[in-house]
Amino acid sequence: MKHAVISVEKISKSYGSGESAVMAIKEATFEIFSGETVALLGPSGSGKTTLITMIGCITEPTSGKLTLNGNVMYDQKWTISDTRKIRRENIGFIFQSHNLIPFLNVLENVTLVPLMNNIAPKEANAHAKELLEYLGVGDKLDKIPSQLSGGQSQRVAIARSLANNPKIILADEPTAALDSERALSVMKLLRKLAHEQEVAIIVVTHDERMLPLFDRILRVDDGVVLEE
Ligand SMILES: Nc1ncnc2c1ncn2[C@@H]1O[C@H](COP(=O)(O)OP(=O)(O)O)[C@@H](O)[C@H]1O
Ligand SMILES: [Mg+2]
Repeated sequence: MKHAVISVEKISKSYGSGESAVMAIKEATFEIFSGETVALLGPSGSGKTTLITMIGCITEPTSGKLTLNGNVMYDQKWTISDTRKIRRENIGFIFQSHNLIPFLNVLENVTLVPLMNNIAPKEANAHAKELLEYLGVGDKLDKIPSQLSGGQSQRVAIARSLANNPKIILADEPTAALDSERALSVMKLLRKLAHEQEVAIIVVTHDERMLPLFDRILRVDDGVVLEE
């Protein structure tokens, strides 16, 4: 049985107040199920980053309700005391630029969060190696980020986002820095992961060519989220 991993009910976000207030997201309501890949599509400034960072408990909504894995995170206010812990333990983030730590090697970048979550080093290392192998960068364990190509760095960033076995992956234009062939292969990989490991994935993208790879498309237009 598929169950809703992400449930968003009438969630809104406004920045600023009074005359200068901007309604970045207007009463968005939708659910995302385990194993689903969902594209978030819309022009620049339409509210995509605002929406994805609210789901990731980074941006505080103004109103509405957010439920992750059946646990209420926000209901007119945060209902959890430590949003960072929630993120670290439940959510994998992939950003436009890979944000790898430059002075740590590939293996260390990937094991960092699991070690913070008190996973035993031996176990964290074994899992990280397995992920890096799966992503085709298993031979780069002791390289530092500056020794990798763009595509390799983004694969390492994906491995890192998976290292805590998240059931939710949020990716904000993860392939923007890649050429179209690499972008396509990264996207196919995310899709494979979602389907094989029952992960819900939301990907912000501008790229219409990627759309056939998604199970569903949500369009954001001036803060209004619509199912396609
Ligand atoms: N921190 C912020 N403070 C004020 N306004 C913001 C902030 N972040 C985003 N906005 C505004 O909210 C709207 C949506 O932005 P954003 O979510 O970044 O859109 P997108 O990711 O689709 O480009 C835009 O009008 C933007 O200027
Ligand atoms: Mg954005």
